[in-house]
Amino acid sequence: MPDETVPHSFHDIPPELQHFLIRTRKGVGDCLSTTSGFAGRIFRFQAGTATETCVKVPLATPATVGEAATRFLRELRLQRAMYYHQFVHWPFDFDLIDDAPIAWFRFWDSDLAALIEDDRFTFEGRLGMLAYLAAALDHCHMKGLVAHQDLKPENVFVQDLRRVASGLPDASIWRIPKLADFGSVNLASECGVFDGTKAYMAPEQWRRMPLGRHTSVWSLGLIAYELLTFGQHPVGEPTRPWRNRASGVFNRWQKKRMWLRWLDGGCRPTGTVGDADLDELIRRCLDPDPAGRPAIAGFSAAILSALRQRSSADYEQANFRIVHAQDVSSSNHDWPYLDKRFNSVVAAVAERFSDPSVLDRYLISEEEAAALA
Ligand SMILES: Nc1ncnc2c1ncn2[C@@H]1O[C@H](COP(=O)(O)OP(=O)(O)O)[C@@H](O)[C@H]1O
Ligand SMILES: [Mg+2]
Repeated sequence: MPDETVPHSFHDIPPELQHFLIRTRKGVGDCLSTTSGFAGRIFRFQAGTATETCVKVPLATPATVGEAATRFLRELRLQRAMYYHQFVHWPFDFDLIDDAPIAWFRFWDSDLAALIEDDRFTFEGRLGMLAYLAAALDHCHMKGLVAHQDLKPENVFVQDLRRVASGLPDASIWRIPKLADFGSVNLASECGVFDGTKAYMAPEQWRRMPLGRHTSVWSLGLIAYELLTFGQHPVGEPTRPWRNRASGVFNRWQKKRMWLRWLDGGCRPTGTVGDADLDELIRRCLDPDPAGRPAIAGFSAAILSALRQRSSADYEQANFRIVHAQDVSSSNHDWPYLDKRFNSVVAAVAERFSDPSVLDRYLISEEEAAALA
């Protein structure tokens, strides 16, 4: 007989049963894959003929199950504060299965890391992506983002609008970002934790100096260089071997030494993206001194101007998409329902782990919900 006094843990049950428990919450189709990032496990499910949905569940290592659950509530709370912008990823429901809070998301077409070396992702499409990403960050800063702290291509999901709309005009800028993974957001300002992924950390993260919009600009510069060179890191090496965990490269890139040396040398990109104006823009974004970097708006204007020089049709479309995304971001959305769902998970976590402080930290009050609307 099972011991009724020992509560079960979602983390200890076999994967097939985990899939089943998740699927029955929403009646979605088969589990298509399971992947693990640094902090979460992603279960992907068939949701309709052309759409897929996924569930993120916090990983319970190395933290305890309770710590993982509350850290995940923090991540979701921040993600809620950034809602809504078309270029920013958002959850559409929450739940608790045994001791694991879960969040439901739409599963997009890929992440940006998977597209870096793809020739079909054109130079113009990449410029559009960078301008969209700048718009996403600008929006998040207005909603309380101090610094994302883990901005890198794997945390930018990508939707290809050509897959959901037919008859779109001929242009290269239909791939749009969904800025994602809010697990490290504002950790420095709130908890004194400056870490991120070493190859993508800004000088102020290494130096434990204040982070802010200037940190986002650094990240935009770094990602711009990587995208526009089809996969080079400004340190002078391709990112793919590190990404593929090629031994030697991966271990070297995990060490502080290489990055501190690069930082001491002024973080100058070793190559060119093939355009003098863009090279200059990236060089300024990567200035170790935050005061030398452009503002997000300046970055965006320079990227759009480079796009205009190459294709006025792409420029017009990209510009329209940015303005439209901003317009739609300020209209009313379905958060009253979501806030209720989120709060019920917060209450369930507090009860499950006998920790009433979770309520004080994460419950969304009506006043706050109104202020966030
Ligand atoms: N909704 C999604 N659409 C597309 N890819 C996703 C989605 N959610 C997760 N992924 C993939 O799973 C990886 C890990 O997800 P992420 O939310 O970043 O978790 P972690 O916090 O563990 O890094 C991402 O880098 C991406 O490749
Ligand atoms: Mg991630």
